[in-house]
Amino acid sequence: MPLKKPSMALLLKSDAEIDIMRSSGRLAAATLRMIAAHVQAGVSTLELNDICHDFTIDHGAIPAPLHYRGFPKSICTSVNEVICHGIPHATQRLKNGDIINIDVTPIVDGYHGDSSVTFIVGGEAAASREACLVTQCARECLYRGIDAVKVGRHVGDIGAAILAHADSYGYSVVRDFVGHGIGKIFHEAPKIPHVGVRGGGVRLRAGMVFTIEPMINVGTWKARTLDDGWTAVTRDGKLSAQFEHTIAILSDGRVEILTAGNEGIQDDDATSD
Ligand code: MF3
Ligand code: CO
Ligand code: CO
Repeated sequence: MPLKKPSMALLLKSDAEIDIMRSSGRLAAATLRMIAAHVQAGVSTLELNDICHDFTIDHGAIPAPLHYRGFPKSICTSVNEVICHGIPHATQRLKNGDIINIDVTPIVDGYHGDSSVTFIVGGEAAASREACLVTQCARECLYRGIDAVKVGRHVGDIGAAILAHADSYGYSVVRDFVGHGIGKIFHEAPKIPHVGVRGGGVRLRAGMVFTIEPMINVGTWKARTLDDGWTAVTRDGKLSAQFEHTIAILSDGRVEILTAGNEGIQDDDATSD
């Protein structure tokens, strides 16, 4: 018997493995760019699922969510008060002013690339001030988290940066769902909480590949799962927004956003949002 379950191991990746993960990351980014044009009033979340599914298969990849622990579809579609893991449905049609997070995870050559974007249906002009602000806050929180990633810093620094930024808006950070190590396995060690204390948690090292995926709520951070066993909603029914990237720390210490397309390398002093 191994001392630890294999899924608990913190698997460091070589630059060669990270190079494969650039392909899955790029495909995740391309899928989100592609689906953006389809996010319009009247479209159903199942139609969005099917378009992403076909795009993934057409690129020789596998949509990881499909049948993952019983998840029934190929992407997650999380509308308004849904925090994450929303299941696409034929009867769920988007309206102007809705916010929808689309979360995609293609597997390319055995490696996962995980990314999500929150879209405002009909654009900012169609949405409430609150919908625009929580979406903006969640996007900024993701980049604050990414900016905290440096060799020698700690996982807790990521959550501390995100929490401080959400606080500045008066918004809350979801605690029940976290970022995660990723590679051949969809969800592996380490866990990346989006709240934390500076200097807490494991030290960040070259070879780590993980997601940062803050979920930001207008009201309480508390979540509840619907009877379908997946859909996580805010307990108070207020809005929630999320953005996600897959991040790699290369052997030379540079930090790369694998799901950013071709411009993933982070400049030390660039402002990334
Ligand atoms: N993509 C999600 C994440 O960011 C996980 C979805 S699991 C599923 O970790 F089963 F709901 F697809
Ligand atoms: Co993820
Ligand atoms: Co995801």
